Formats: sequence, structure tokens, C-alpha cells
Amino acid sequence: MSTYDELIERAASEILNSKNTVALTGAGISVESGIATFRGAGGLWEKYDPEEYAHIAKLRSNPERAWILFKEMIETIRKGEPNPAHVALAKLEDMGLLSVIITQNVDNLHQDAGSKHVIEFHGNTLNLSCMECGKKYLASEISLDEIPPLCACNGVLRPDAVLFGEAIPFDELVESRKAAETCDLMLVIGTTALVQPAASMPLIAAENGAKIIEINPEESALTYIADIFIKGRSARVLSDILRKVEEKVG
Ligand code: APR
Repeated sequence: MSTYDELIERAASEILNSKNTVALTGAGISVESGIATFRGAGGLWEKYDPEEYAHIAKLRSNPERAWILFKEMIETIRKGEPNPAHVALAKLEDMGLLSVIITQNVDNLHQDAGSKHVIEFHGNTLNLSCMECGKKYLASEISLDEIPPLCACNGVLRPDAVLFGEAIPFDELVESRKAAETCDLMLVIGTTALVQPAASMPLIAAENGAKIIEINPEESALTYIADIFIKGRSARVLSDILRKVEEKVG
């Protein structure tokens, strides 16, 4: 059984030996930024049934209720700052050791941490769009005192996040599949890996010969394919991996 330090050492070596490393991140990477996960203790889906609050059909039929969830998510995200896990991934990208992040998160924290190549697999909550005329607004410019917020045309606004019952944006899906097919290492960080098609990306990577390193305090639906599973919170684990990489690079 490898010790924690041995796992950090191995992960750092794999990252340095890899010619094309990709990361897949989930809500767990933002926990230490104060943003709740969806599943597990204290998760959003314990409080709000996603089929009732986060499904496109329900947004259309009952926007007042959907916006109770959206308002809570947007206000929590507004207070969130990148944590050391986001910063470590941005630094690995700067060092030329991380090609792209495929994120399931809609909190923009990878970009806020300085990551330049981020694929927003589930869209984002930074922008709102009118469901009638399509006009776009920055969420930060829209008051959420009255929900649902309305467009100048009086149409209901919605976050640009992908809701249940909606397809993944085509470009993001194609780019993510290509990244998964061509990488030789994928870091899978903070995801239960229960939601498709995001959860297929590590499987595609593994099928194409990539190694999988998973970072999570709990096992996930993908742990069985991980070459290295580091049990821990991503802020500490990714900071330790970055430090080891920097040590080796000298
Ligand atoms: N560091 C790393 N991982 C953590 C931490 C932490 N500090 N704390 C919790 N986790 C892990 C949990 O163990 C769990 O595996 O984060 C994961 C959170 O899982 P989910 O809440 O299911 O989030 P995610 O996998 O991103 O969900 C995928 O489901 O509801 C949809 O669209 C939503 O993008 C979301 C998708």
C-alpha cells in the first residue's frame, strides 16, 4: 500500500513524463472555495430535487421555483474565490504541464485562478440569456432581488448553465472528446463521475492508453480505472503535487 508521499511522488513523475495531460474537474475542487457539492452530505441535491429545480422543462413551466436554486447558486459563486487546487492547475498550465481543463463546474474559478484553456462542459452561470429574445446579460449586472429576473423585452432570463434535459454544447463536447482521446494522462479531480457524458471522458482517455490519476476524499464511480488514487482534499493534494513537480524541475 503506497503512502501518501509515495503517491504524490508518483503523480508528480507521471505529470513530468506526460506529453499531454488533461484534467477533468467536478464540484469537489470548489468545496474549499465555499461552494457546495451537488451530492453527498450538505450537497445541493439534498436540498433541491434536480428534476424539479434544475430541469429545462421545469424552468419553462415554473421559472419562479427554478430561480430559487439559481439565485442560491449564483450568490454562493459570487462569494467564491479560487482555492489552492485551482491555482495549482493554473500553474501547471503555465509550466506547460497541463494542456486543458474539462470542467463540469459553472463557477468560473479555473479562469479566475488564471487557467487559460478551460472547456466549460456544463456552461457557466456568469452569463444570463433571455428565453424569449436571446439577449445576453452579465449575471453580475442583474439584481436577483426579484426572481425570476426579466429581460428588457420582459422575457425570463436563465443562466447559461446546461440544465438536466439539455444537450452538452456541441463545440465543448467535440473538444473534450478530442482532448480525452489524445491525452496520455488525465487528472480526475473532485467528481462522483455519475453524470454523462462528462463521466465518459476518463473512460475514453483510458481506452486510448492514457493513465488516470484520481484525487478525491471518497472513491467515485471511476476509481476502479484509476492507475493512481490519492484519497484527499484537492487543495492540499494538488498543492503537494505542484510542490513536488517544482522540486523535480528544480
Ligand atoms: N476535494 C476534492 N473532492 C472533493 C472534496 C474536496 N475537498 N470534497 C468533496 N469532494 C468530492 C466528493 O467526494 C464527490 O466525489 O467531490 C465530488 C462531488 O460530487 P458531485 O457533487 O456529484 O459533483 P460532480 O461530480 O461535479 O457532479 C457532476 O452533476 O448535478 C450535475 O451538473 C451537475 O456538474 C454537475 C454534475
